[in-house]
Amino acid sequence: MVQRQPFFYDITLRDGNQSLKKPWNTYEKEIIFNHLKELGVQGIEAGFAAASEMDYEACSHLASIAPDNIVISALARCVENDIIKASEAIKSAPKQRIHTFIAMSPFNMQYVLNKSPEQVRKQAIEAVEFAKKTIGKRGEVQFSVEHFGDCGENIDFVTDTLKQIVKAGANVINLPNTVERTRPKTFINLVEKVYNALPKDIIISVHNHNDLGMATAVTVESYFAGALQLECALNGLGERAGNTNMYEVAVALHNSGVDVPLNLSKIYELALTISDMSNVKIYEKAPLIGPDALAHRSGIHQDGAVKTKDMEKGAYRPIHPSLIGRKDDEKLGFTSQSGKTAVYEIISEAGYPITLREAQRIAPYAKEIAEKIGELTTKNIIDIYFKQVFNIEGAFVLCNMEKIESGINLHFKYHDKEYDIEVAGNGPVDGCIKAIQKAGFNCELLHYEQQALNEELMGSGATAMSIMHFKAPNGQTVISRGMDESTIKANIKAIFNGLNIIENLYNPKG
Ligand code: KIV
Ligand code: ZN
Repeated sequence: MVQRQPFFYDITLRDGNQSLKKPWNTYEKEIIFNHLKELGVQGIEAGFAAASEMDYEACSHLASIAPDNIVISALARCVENDIIKASEAIKSAPKQRIHTFIAMSPFNMQYVLNKSPEQVRKQAIEAVEFAKKTIGKRGEVQFSVEHFGDCGENIDFVTDTLKQIVKAGANVINLPNTVERTRPKTFINLVEKVYNALPKDIIISVHNHNDLGMATAVTVESYFAGALQLECALNGLGERAGNTNMYEVAVALHNSGVDVPLNLSKIYELALTISDMSNVKIYEKAPLIGPDALAHRSGIHQDGAVKTKDMEKGAYRPIHPSLIGRKDDEKLGFTSQSGKTAVYEIISEAGYPITLREAQRIAPYAKEIAEKIGELTTKNIIDIYFKQVFNIEGAFVLCNMEKIESGINLHFKYHDKEYDIEVAGNGPVDGCIKAIQKAGFNCELLHYEQQALNEELMGSGATAMSIMHFKAPNGQTVISRGMDESTIKANIKAIFNGLNIIENLYNPKG
């Protein structure tokens, strides 16, 4: 089958609207209508004109401002009055469509309509003929088999009726899964049967509700089975568990290599707007648009996410967030399952200096706290960072260091024992290290550098940062930092932080 561009038919303003606790007025519908234009949908169902004065007014207003590249439709039951109202309401749209429907499932015909299949068939054909006559050359007629998903037992009756409905003038045949209660494959087999039974110039459409959470999958597969028109709603709004979510279908088709005629980059902002306007919150785990949809918490996922951050395909995400205009990028949340990568990313992202090795050293402290309180906030991680990088508590405590005539005097404590050591030295760093060594401690400096600091970011007036590398007892390198307003003090703090890092790692109980 040659794949044609899907036709996105939006039903937010009709099916979505009818399910809201407070349906939208014309003004609100117009705001959404304008967003739909920007998104680039091909068809918009403006409302159910016969349902209320408000809906009639909204349909006719939207029709009057419709551009000439979007089909505007209004819904109508298979009754003359509804069809007349729908036709009148959309008469100023450049591209008009009357959408009429009736149920054909055995269950609904018997228990809801109380009509025989023959009566339903007659009513449907007459309604389509009437709609065709009413709209004339101005537009098209769409016919929906309400409860099509429940028509497995009488599918031959349905296809036979649809052939007559097409002869009566229908241009689009819509197949709704009005209540999702069967396997996707069962539904798709039915769609295929209709597709194969009708002339190829007839547009087959699907309209799937999401009662079992499979509407996106059913819609996507229906497209590959021959349905060209896909009826979807923004944010998946609609009766009960909603209609098929437009964003999920669009992105799923895009990912399958289909040429999707929508501005996908509008999705994220639009989703937030619709949530606001409908008062229906976006579920935390909602695919693509949920606050948590891009968060990674396990160490393995975080590692993969960071390694593939700027690539179109990511290790642990379905799309690059920018595809849908999402700017918050992949969020890393720190829990007891997280590791060094998350610490590194969160701290770097916040603008603080850190190396991956330091993140590895700090991660166990963060994990220990996360085990007790659950996911840590960025602020929690920054607090841990300051404590474990710049103010490391341990056995070594600096009491005082001063310059004396012969060199320097260093006063410090190791556990409860005090040391007061005088040495000749070439400067504070050299003198301090020599004094520590003279007191009998190992302190081997491998590398030393100074960096200016962003005072505003670091707080506490610090402007100087020293970075030192020390050799640990096992030969590995330990990185320490110190910060202060004074360069000398920053150096000495880095030395004592380094001593305590080594002590805590290799001699934790002293
Ligand atoms: O769910 C449904 O069957 C409908 C029809 C009116 C198309 O919304
Ligand atoms: Zn519906």
